[in-house]
Amino acid sequence: MNDKKKNLDNREVFIKGLSDNIVKSAVDIVKIDPTKKQITEITDTVTERLQYESSSLLNEAVTKLHPDSLSEMLPEEKVERNFERFGKNFRYQHMLMFVSVIILIITGMPLKFPEFGLSKFIVIDLLGGLHNSTFIHRIGAVGLIIVGIWHVIYSLGSRVGRRDFFLMVPNLKDAADFMGTMRYYIGKSKSGPKFDRFSFIEKFDYWAVYWGMVIMIGSGAIMWYKELFPKYFYDIGREMHSDEGLLATLSIVIWHFYNVHFNPEVFPMSWTWWHGQLTESEMKHHHPLEYEAIIKKESQDIIDQSKSESKGNN
Ligand code: HEM
Repeated sequence: MNDKKKNLDNREVFIKGLSDNIVKSAVDIVKIDPTKKQITEITDTVTERLQYESSSLLNEAVTKLHPDSLSEMLPEEKVERNFERFGKNFRYQHMLMFVSVIILIITGMPLKFPEFGLSKFIVIDLLGGLHNSTFIHRIGAVGLIIVGIWHVIYSLGSRVGRRDFFLMVPNLKDAADFMGTMRYYIGKSKSGPKFDRFSFIEKFDYWAVYWGMVIMIGSGAIMWYKELFPKYFYDIGREMHSDEGLLATLSIVIWHFYNVHFNPEVFPMSWTWWHGQLTESEMKHHHPLEYEAIIKKESQDIIDQSKSESKGNN
């Protein structure tokens, strides 16, 4: 017996059983004793009706199983909510900074390592000589100085800038988070610490750049206007510039590039510098405390709004 036939027979048996059950229940309810003939007649009517309903339901199920209907029933693809991490102003600062820093590294490093073939290629073949390369270095320097001034004005003068600047100040939680992360890395705890808007790693990154800019701009300016300073000032300035320049280059190439390019979670690149957005899952994963605070505030706002609306209605 094939499966199709078996299913049909099973349904017949079910329907027969269900008809008997319905009629018996009806007899119990009305509490009379009908004849056998009457029972058979009523059972046949119920069976006929159940057969009809079962055929039309079978029809409906077949229609619903059609591929077109099935695709309509599929749950809609979940569109993830985005959260703004960096506003336009901050993103433009970052763009000017990385363009300037790339120019400064390309034109600065060959001066520190002039014996390298790559240095000769950049300065002579690519840029057409030392005169041009030092001129381009100064263009990059002006870019970096503009970013420095821009960022100070932004941090003092705008609401978001001030908020983020104060959130960047290291606190005791950062020390605890550092210990928590170390414990997690060596397998002493099951999960790492939960971070707020800025983790201790991001704060370290930010202040390293801040400090680096002060040193690079200060020492660069001394070299640029060396005639204004005593000779030993120039020597100290050049030493600082040269070593901090190498440190900055290595930290960008190793530390920063790992975080924003080579980390498997973001490879080949995190686009936050471009659109300034983080997805809901990224927020939950990287900044759970900030995420919880935003959701809590939004729910509170809704409650407050509905309270004031119901007051207005009364
Ligand atoms: C990330 C930023 C920067 C990097 C990586 C960088 C890198 C370097 C390096 C490696 C040198 C060669 C030092 C040596 O001879 O050992 C150099 C030279 C120099 N840098 Fe920078 N620099 C940066 C920013 C600046 C800024 C902001 C200024 C100006 C305010 C500046 C002005 C100079 C000057 C005047 C020289 C001497 C060579 C020349 O006259 O072009 N640099 N830089």
